[in-house]
Amino acid sequence: MKQILMIEVSPRAKDSASRSIADALAARLTDVYPSAKLVRRDLAADHLPHLDEITLRAISTKDPAEAERLKEAARQSDQLTDELLESDLLVIATPMWNFGIPSALKAWIDLVIRPGRTFQYSAGGVLGLAKSKKAILILASGGVFTEGPWRPWDFVEPYLRQILGFIGIVDVQTVRVEGMNIPDLAINAVAKANKAIGVLAL
Ligand SMILES: Cc1cc2nc3c(=O)[nH]c(=O)nc-3n(C[C@H](O)[C@H](O)[C@H](O)COP(=O)(O)O)c2cc1C
Repeated sequence: MKQILMIEVSPRAKDSASRSIADALAARLTDVYPSAKLVRRDLAADHLPHLDEITLRAISTKDPAEAERLKEAARQSDQLTDELLESDLLVIATPMWNFGIPSALKAWIDLVIRPGRTFQYSAGGVLGLAKSKKAILILASGGVFTEGPWRPWDFVEPYLRQILGFIGIVDVQTVRVEGMNIPDLAINAVAKANKAIGVLAL
């Protein structure tokens, strides 16, 4: 394990359930892989831009001269994509917002899902290029989505698994911190998630 990339999304600091579990996982990863570089990318501290016309052109042109001319516009996407490709393990710690992922995380995804870098079209369909990586999802939510009537409302885990699979990351484990808005469940949710961190296959 050379590098671990941890993406943290919640704008909340000490009250954030996903961040507190991410901290526990970071501590365990540091124990298990003391020589690995742990890169923590805080999407609440570093606001990523939405893709604009010039960036879109810069990261999708197939003309080498145009790519060279637009190098500066592609810089941030290049950096984030390099950071992902250089990592062996990706951790995404995010809240559920309005049944999906916060737009800050979507902005990161839009900057790293790159034709020719993280996926490519081939005769057999789409080929993920971010191979031999593992991912761990830490998902905090006010309600419960692993069972019960709200399960079909979860557009976080299915989407993240689908988009990671699209770029070749299929070894994905999930830790839930769920029921944070349900007092009876919230009391134990963080402790339960901390326990789950302890038994992850790392
Ligand atoms: C803007 C916003 C939207 C939310 N939408 C949902 C939702 O759709 N479903 C849900 O179960 N919880 C929802 N919640 C509750 C959060 O998922 C929950 O508080 C979670 O603990 C937030 O993660 P954090 O503690 O890491 O910040 C929402 C919270 C906020 C602030």
